[in-house]
Amino acid sequence: MAHSISTLLSTLLLSVLGYHLVSGVPIASHHAAQQRHPSTARTEILHGRRSAAVPAFNSNFADPSIFQDTDGQWYAFATEGNGKTVQVARAPAVLGPWELLDHDDLLPTSPSWATGKYTWAPAVDRVDDGSYVMYYSAQLDGEYSRFHGIGTATADSVLGPYTPSPGKPFAANVTAGGAIDASGFRDGKTGKRYVVYKVDGNSLGSGGSCGNVDAPVHPTPIMLQEVEADGVTRLGGPTPILDRTEDDGPLVEAPSLLRMRDGRYVLFYSSGCFNDASYRTNYAIASEVTGPYVRAKQAMMKSGDRLGLAAPGGAAAAADGSALVFHADCPQGRCMHVSVLNVDQDDVVTLEE
Ligand SMILES: *[C@@H]1O[C@H](CO)[C@@H](O)[C@H](O)[C@H]1NC(C)=O
Repeated sequence: MAHSISTLLSTLLLSVLGYHLVSGVPIASHHAAQQRHPSTARTEILHGRRSAAVPAFNSNFADPSIFQDTDGQWYAFATEGNGKTVQVARAPAVLGPWELLDHDDLLPTSPSWATGKYTWAPAVDRVDDGSYVMYYSAQLDGEYSRFHGIGTATADSVLGPYTPSPGKPFAANVTAGGAIDASGFRDGKTGKRYVVYKVDGNSLGSGGSCGNVDAPVHPTPIMLQEVEADGVTRLGGPTPILDRTEDDGPLVEAPSLLRMRDGRYVLFYSSGCFNDASYRTNYAIASEVTGPYVRAKQAMMKSGDRLGLAAPGGAAAAADGSALVFHADCPQGRCMHVSVLNVDQDDVVTLEE
């Protein structure tokens, strides 16, 4: 009885927020009610699909992003690896099955400002004229080669080849440590487009975890940059929307923005250091896209929590809010995981196990 009332409540609220809701039922008891066997949850297909606790496929695929093309196919893009500058995987549905593609280089030419090495965290959007834009981070050439800059590149189809935009990087900020981890966001309320990215202050390298624990500790702000309809041309300057605190450790990074069906904005971001167990996924919520973003009280995912993963981070939301991709440590390096997002009435954003 209680279950059917809560199901009814869920169904009603579903039409308000547009997400699968676990209203009135604590997340933990909801999952317990499914009577799965904990020992098999991490190794088996759960409810006809892969669990968030299991990699989408067993391969190094770090800092993933996710995109649905016009034909309905889903694509994920990742940091260099497996012999590719930009890695790409494909699936017929967001929860899989995912397949790593052995495709021609998506970004065969490097922009003039980059070395062509250390290409990180690519993300793809389709803009209003039907073309595709890739945002990526690449090592700066010349005197600032210890830093990265953010590039844009465009293509006529999702698998490219992508042609780097001419001229300077989209963002670099070499006095503050460079810039990395760009992703695009179209605000459904205003139709405006933005790019969020991180000023890579920890690469200035004072020392300690991720180079940014020993004094002087440098800021690593997440910036919001409005762009024109082409997704590439900047409109005005960037606005900082979140920066690291003592509690975050060396940094915040890997921003991804999503507008919830109730009109508010969720900013997913990682903190800790990517190369140890402190790396984790967090979120913050705002009423306006420019903030202020209010941090959730607890990390969304961290090492050893109910998912049982190590260093879960680098999360990115699908533009339609249906899913979140992220990476966690695995024998191959950092593997991609994918999960359905749940948002409850208390602004608690969790993943379906
Ligand atoms: C460069 O980064 C610093 C943060 O370290 C920030 O205050 C500043 O606004 C940034 N400048 C530009 C042009 O993005």
